[in-house]
Amino acid sequence: MARTQGEGGTALVFGASGGIGRAFADALLQKPEVTRVLGTSRDPARLAESVEPIALDVGDPLSISRAGDEIRQIAQELDLVLYCIGILHDDEHGLAPEKRVEDVDPAAVAHSFAVNALAPLLLARELAHLLPRRARCIWGNLSARVGSIGDNRMGGWYSYRASKAAQNMVTRNLAIELGRRHRGLACIALHPGTVATPLSAPFRSADAEGVVTPEEAVENLLAVIDGLTAKDTGKFFAWDGSEIPW
Ligand SMILES: NC(=O)c1ccc[n+]([C@@H]2O[C@H](COP(=O)([O-])OP(=O)(O)OC[C@H]3O[C@@H](n4cnc5c(N)ncnc54)[C@H](OP(=O)(O)O)[C@@H]3O)[C@@H](O)[C@H]2O)c1
Repeated sequence: MARTQGEGGTALVFGASGGIGRAFADALLQKPEVTRVLGTSRDPARLAESVEPIALDVGDPLSISRAGDEIRQIAQELDLVLYCIGILHDDEHGLAPEKRVEDVDPAAVAHSFAVNALAPLLLARELAHLLPRRARCIWGNLSARVGSIGDNRMGGWYSYRASKAAQNMVTRNLAIELGRRHRGLACIALHPGTVATPLSAPFRSADAEGVVTPEEAVENLLAVIDGLTAKDTGKFFAWDGSEIPW
């Protein structure tokens, strides 16, 4: 992450309590060019000690605007923003990956859309103006390959696939609009691979081939992020740097 005029390397990790978000926060805290890491959780006590804690429940629009106020008060500029919040299953909301169309529950789908797709849009509404105008900066939304329409050959998982496809459109739209006033911005979607976290736990065996730890996933993704320039904005990248069709 390049230093910018003003504050320098301020990173914001939404969902810094989760498997991938926490590994991102830990790795960023080790980078000399990163001067501070702000992180969110519904329960900030879950965050690592060196992370500046922000309470955020993206299922609640009031919480989103309060977190926006708080972040604007403590940070003048954001050089790296990573949206690592996401849900695939959630007992509280009756959400589970649907095998058949008959399994679709409207309230559960609505919650999935609120968390995976609407929240990053509302957070960009709150915070996009904190991105530097000219210096290199990154807004990365953690997506998933299964959110690719072009890559969908298996079907199923209606709420997760559709909410990630909607998130992907949000990412692409933001890239186009924000790129007009933030000339160094790379606004991108990222697929981390299959990562051993609570999100994926019910749907993989612990020793399944190709499953990586959050730390490995973040090492891969940071290599992608470190190589980004404004020319990459509006793209969807996998963990190995390859482009995924929308
Ligand atoms: N793991 C994988 O294999 C995999 C594969 C492809 C894509 N991804 C994507 O990568 C991202 C991170 O996933 P992960 O595997 O790290 O998941 P995880 O370990 O389950 O973490 C989920 C994160 O989302 C936050 N969260 C959930 N509901 C929230 C809400 N209502 N308000 C605020 N925060 C909320 C949690 O924070 P609190 O509970 O502390 O509030 C936690 O930080 C997700 O977007 C996921 O779709 C993961």
